[in-house]
Amino acid sequence: MNHNQLIQSALNEVERSNSIEDLELVRVKYFGKNGLITQELKTLSSLDTDKRKELGAKLNNLKKNFFSSLEDRKNKIESSEINLRLRKDFLDSTLPARENNLLEAKIHPINQTINEIVSILGGMGLMYEEGPDIEDDFHNFSALNIPKNHPARQMHDTFYIKNEEESYVMRTHTSPVQIRSLKKMPLPLRIFAPGRTYRCDSDITHTPMFHQVEGLVVDEEITFANLKWFIDIFCKTFFKKENLKLRFRPSYFPFTEPSAEVDINYTNESGKIILGEGTKWMEILGCGMVHPEVFKMSGIKKKVTGFAFGMGIERLAMLKYGMPDLRDFFDSDLKWLEHYGFSFLEETDLSWR
Ligand code: DAH
Repeated sequence: MNHNQLIQSALNEVERSNSIEDLELVRVKYFGKNGLITQELKTLSSLDTDKRKELGAKLNNLKKNFFSSLEDRKNKIESSEINLRLRKDFLDSTLPARENNLLEAKIHPINQTINEIVSILGGMGLMYEEGPDIEDDFHNFSALNIPKNHPARQMHDTFYIKNEEESYVMRTHTSPVQIRSLKKMPLPLRIFAPGRTYRCDSDITHTPMFHQVEGLVVDEEITFANLKWFIDIFCKTFFKKENLKLRFRPSYFPFTEPSAEVDINYTNESGKIILGEGTKWMEILGCGMVHPEVFKMSGIKKKVTGFAFGMGIERLAMLKYGMPDLRDFFDSDLKWLEHYGFSFLEETDLSWR
């Protein structure tokens, strides 16, 4: 093969290549370590000066042309590959969505219930507060008038977290937020604090983690009458039942005196619970007048009184929305969530008047 033919065939093969791999083969064939042109270049040194100059110029010129058309060809191949892929992967974004594939995200009933409580208690003038899930013994127990060895501690089935110097607990109720708020906020004070709580207890009606909301109102002349009015309005608004009856039943909590548990009336019609009707009672929350010891432990010097209340959010949700089993709340079962969950666009109607 003479040099002209060799040059021509090298350029032709580049032009005829249809893939990046083919191009690479052509490059190796002519310019690889043992490539046809590489070999020709190696023979240059044995030629005499005139011939070497002539052939050298020719081959170097070829090299430049070869690699620039190789680059051109490579670009062409790549862009045609992209075009091909674009045509193959074409997605008509104007097509209507397949309806049965539309999985609408839902708000978990716990979040929905908390949102409702935030609206109601916020509307009634209470400020949203939060406390930590991991509490120290002081805030969870001692400051709430539950000293060491107090029998009430046994009732709390506490998860303990041991640290070298101090023992911490997973808070067993939201009541420690009362202490934290009293310590840091100016008086008068009106707060509520929803959040997670933990007890080492698990059966049909108990889960190790659950939610409560705490309320605390402190001023110079807060009375039990204020508490009754407040709880009455809250329950009627939350359950949307103007005729709901409430019963304040004497009870005991270490951090309130006097203390009460509040029952609401209901009737059971062939297994279905109807609130605000009938003569049966069920308990929904605990409350009372803040114990003087709580004020003392929180460093309150001013002469004040206050009321406090605490309730379980799962229980409120179950009564309002009819879920039969507490444990389902935390199973992450999509079917359950689709059934009991709430739409983002659904408005919370809080009026009962
Ligand atoms: N902390 C109580 C519990 O977990 C509930 C409670 C009762 C809270 C009475 C209060 C209250 O603030 O006044 O059982």
